Amino acid sequence: MSARWAAGADLVVVGSGVAGLTAALRAQSLGLRVLVVTKGEVDDGNTRWAQGGVAVVLPDQHDEGDSVQAHITDTLTAGAGLCDEAAVRAIVGGGPEAVTALRALGAVFDARPDGRLARTREGGHSAFRVVHAGGDATGAEVERALVTAARDGRVAVLEQHVAVQALRTPSGAVAGVQVLDDRGVPGVITAPAVLLATGGLGQLYQATSNPEVATGDGLALALRAGAPVADLEFVQFHPTVLYTGEGARGRCPLVTEAVRGEGAVLVDATGARVMAGVHPLADLAPRDVVAAAITRHMARGRGGVDDHVFLDATHLGAEAFRTRFPTVLAACLAAGVDPAVEPIPVAPAAHFSCGGVVTDVDGRTAVPGLYAAGEVARTGLHGANRLASNSLLEGLVVGARSAEAVAADLRGGRLADARLAVVPDLPSAPVADRDSLQRVMSRYAAIGREAEGLAIVGSVLDVTTANRVLDTRAAVEDAALTLVARALLAAAATRTESRGCHVRTDFPERDDRAWTHPTVLRMTPSGQ
Ligand code: SIN
Repeated sequence: MSARWAAGADLVVVGSGVAGLTAALRAQSLGLRVLVVTKGEVDDGNTRWAQGGVAVVLPDQHDEGDSVQAHITDTLTAGAGLCDEAAVRAIVGGGPEAVTALRALGAVFDARPDGRLARTREGGHSAFRVVHAGGDATGAEVERALVTAARDGRVAVLEQHVAVQALRTPSGAVAGVQVLDDRGVPGVITAPAVLLATGGLGQLYQATSNPEVATGDGLALALRAGAPVADLEFVQFHPTVLYTGEGARGRCPLVTEAVRGEGAVLVDATGARVMAGVHPLADLAPRDVVAAAITRHMARGRGGVDDHVFLDATHLGAEAFRTRFPTVLAACLAAGVDPAVEPIPVAPAAHFSCGGVVTDVDGRTAVPGLYAAGEVARTGLHGANRLASNSLLEGLVVGARSAEAVAADLRGGRLADARLAVVPDLPSAPVADRDSLQRVMSRYAAIGREAEGLAIVGSVLDVTTANRVLDTRAAVEDAALTLVARALLAAAATRTESRGCHVRTDFPERDDRAWTHPTVLRMTPSGQ
């Protein structure tokens, strides 16, 4: 049965991280009836794991010499020629207002003794402009503040419900979503506007900083609804997650880049500096540069170690770790490493999707009624490589703007009548074996790819894929991973150059004559 219950709203927000809750709160304040749908608990997403902070130049807080323009320039530089400059200006320029609004909701950022906000620096930033909370627990504070505000404001949140597919009207507009609860009971929510805020796709890989929920669901839903996606080949690998032993799997604890911002350096097993001579910013080079350099360095296997390097932060001392990096300290101690006295074993792991569903800076996709914000969206802010701590910023700015766009589109009569929504049967879709998928994606489609390896991943998907009805959350997630892997492989095979996070060993150079445009993909009627 395709629906055992039905509900209605003006806006359905799928996902409850920074973008989703920011949008829901703004939409509710604009008088919209909002329903947030989330497949786990409200705070299960990626937001709460973010450590470093929010990159923002607040008018009354920044240091001499820093400016919004400098933040824009750093974002464009990190994006390696593929950012949409207008989007960068709009989103970075919207940062101060968005962070001020978040603080007004109750988020508390760390302060200096003079009362101004403390700021740190991360890779690719030319200034100390990253504001943080709880030392290295910024995402947790952002999520706490938003969840509290949503509860206080009585924003309706439906937990343990995964979105299966978009409802469409006969004209093709999106007009709601079909959902499944954790017992497999289907329901439908009709609404003239659906905002995808489902986060990323780190679970495509064996080792990731992302939690289990990051399975690319929103991307798959958007592709099936006819929305174009772009830049999926640009999967950002965080240079430093805690290495906990051979074959580390699943969510690996992050060692925030802010540790390097506070002076830590990458060394190998012989004590040699990894970033020496690689980039003028050395250990604070943009993330794609550092992750690729570590990968090359590990391949050399110096000191007999070829699957991790070390982050030497011993200069910080025990007290600084306790106050400034309590999350990193706890993860290290749990793994038997005392970072105040010994280097931390680290390795790169899948972290962030720079690409996503193509949207404007107001979250509008090409499909009427379908919006996207946060990591699932491709606004053009990140280009080929996201600047550190620009993701919470994007979620805050575009989340709010999306809610305003929905309100404006409703007022302007630009959205479909949700009563016309067609409720389909639960769909069937190709589902690959997740372990095999993660293994071959990690081996052949991570940092350093070539045509042959990408084709091997495709062949493995071919033989391990079977069609199945999406009648459980696991099936929905596995189908999403399968479809997103296919799209990512197609994008990675198409871009015959190396740029940002996309490193092709068979095309090692950046090619500005052929490749300054995004790789845009949409699903064909045959489902490819
Ligand atoms: C970090 O703290 O290193 C991660 C921040 C980010 O991904 O922007």
